[in-house]
Amino acid sequence: MNFSFVTAEAVRQNGELLVLPLFDSALALKGGVESTALTALDRAEALGGLLRKTAGEEGFKAQADQSFLFHTHGKLHAARVLLLGLGARGTFRPEILRRVFGKAAKVAQRLKLSELAVVLPDLEPDALPEAVRATVEGLVLGQYRFDRYRTVGRDEKPVVVQKVRLGLPEGMRKSRELEDAVSLAVAIGDATNWARDMVNEPAGVLTPTRLAQEATAMAKASGLKITVGGLKEIQKLKMGMFLGVTQGSAEEPRLIQVSYLPKNAKDAKKAPIALVGKAITFDSGGLSLKTADGMVDMKTDMAGSAAVLGAMRVIAQMQPPFPVHAFLGACENMPSGTAYRPGDILISRQGKTVEVTNTDAEGRLVLGDMLTWAAELEPSALVDLATLTGACMVALGHHVVGAFGDDEALMAELLAAAKVAGEELWRLPIHELQKDALKSDVADMKNSGERYGGAINAAVFLREFVGNTPWVHLDIAGPSQAPRERGYFSKGATGVGVRTLVDFIRQRASDNRA
Ligand code: BES
Ligand code: MN
Ligand code: ZN
Repeated sequence: MNFSFVTAEAVRQNGELLVLPLFDSALALKGGVESTALTALDRAEALGGLLRKTAGEEGFKAQADQSFLFHTHGKLHAARVLLLGLGARGTFRPEILRRVFGKAAKVAQRLKLSELAVVLPDLEPDALPEAVRATVEGLVLGQYRFDRYRTVGRDEKPVVVQKVRLGLPEGMRKSRELEDAVSLAVAIGDATNWARDMVNEPAGVLTPTRLAQEATAMAKASGLKITVGGLKEIQKLKMGMFLGVTQGSAEEPRLIQVSYLPKNAKDAKKAPIALVGKAITFDSGGLSLKTADGMVDMKTDMAGSAAVLGAMRVIAQMQPPFPVHAFLGACENMPSGTAYRPGDILISRQGKTVEVTNTDAEGRLVLGDMLTWAAELEPSALVDLATLTGACMVALGHHVVGAFGDDEALMAELLAAAKVAGEELWRLPIHELQKDALKSDVADMKNSGERYGGAINAAVFLREFVGNTPWVHLDIAGPSQAPRERGYFSKGATGVGVRTLVDFIRQRASDNRA
């Protein structure tokens, strides 16, 4: 998608589809605040108020999520006008723009349009960069679909929106800041869609080997450093928990480290940030086999690693003044004659021994070894993303990420980053007493406890492997998947976490430069 800024007047003279976001006050019968853009359109000789009148008759009140498509029948330059509701000005957040423009992208796609003209909302000038970012992200994300395996009922050549003109509010000029907002948004949107593709790809295709290949191609294209190891390297690093999980699979595991290093030598020596992503390319549950229903979506069990890699892609472009490293332990969790068994005792890289009471609690085993490894770099922050527990999904549903960690400052940073990014994070406690749930009779601990507090149990387990490193664990089991098309989501992978990680690094970078 190519974006350019034009004046308010020029945007009205353009495009097959003119998209106009409106606050509800613009359509209020009495005491409303006029939308200059709407008025300018509607007053155009030929329309004579028809736009406002029809919208009103069709029940469009510019409530958040409402939209209204209007045919101009050649009376305006644009063939159609799409009104998007933003709700009340008082409750406005950029995330609302992301959602409505996600929907606009889908409308444009259905109409098979390759060009769009967008009127930016009339906000205070200092709110405009974030609004532009959300608008562009919404359009790029909203256009995503995963249809490379469809042969029936598929367009010969799917039309994609290629050109978007962004009409500045009356009297505003384009600036460096606005152009930077566009390029950041395009980078984030593209990286998120790339992560979505990885997650949506079937597990028979996206094996650990293939995941490593995709990571390598991405790293090369982005100027990132990457090292990929196999079984031998994992053995050498004594990652006994990782080895336990992978031993039942016919697919070779992959140990992946992706690194961004600043060009400036002084910055390159600063304490790094470490990111860890769960990379189980398929989770059958192992010998503690999942049910048929429970297994259908388990190709998505590498969504954490996809988000981490997506974020690295953007970080490479952002060039923060400190190193960032990503650590991924990719393997499958399969039942077989060579699989690890319930009752087996695994020796972690860190030294602690773990009794396997459920082979389906595999994510924490691999992550435990990866966290130990990452912590050895003495990073200033360690953040992991994982589709870790069904329990977290039960607790928080499909829209909210569970956040765990004892480091108040780092937790605050991530909650703030998520807010800017428009992703929903909710802190859950790591309760001391919950540790009892993982007591083993034969080893230092076991890998699964009782059902109750399942998401906390997993966090308690992971905490054993991070030492004193400031650490936050994000359980994305619910939000990694969208149950239906909505806003900038299509059904399936969401790419959740890319935006929060990027904003976390952005904040750190600006604090660091200040
Ligand atoms: N990958 C699953 C968690 C999951 C479930 C993610 C549903 C997305 C949707 C994880 O490996 C798992 O199986 N967790 C178990 C842990 C239990 C055995 C202690 C769970 O949540 O049931
Ligand atoms: Mn599992
Ligand atoms: Zn899993």
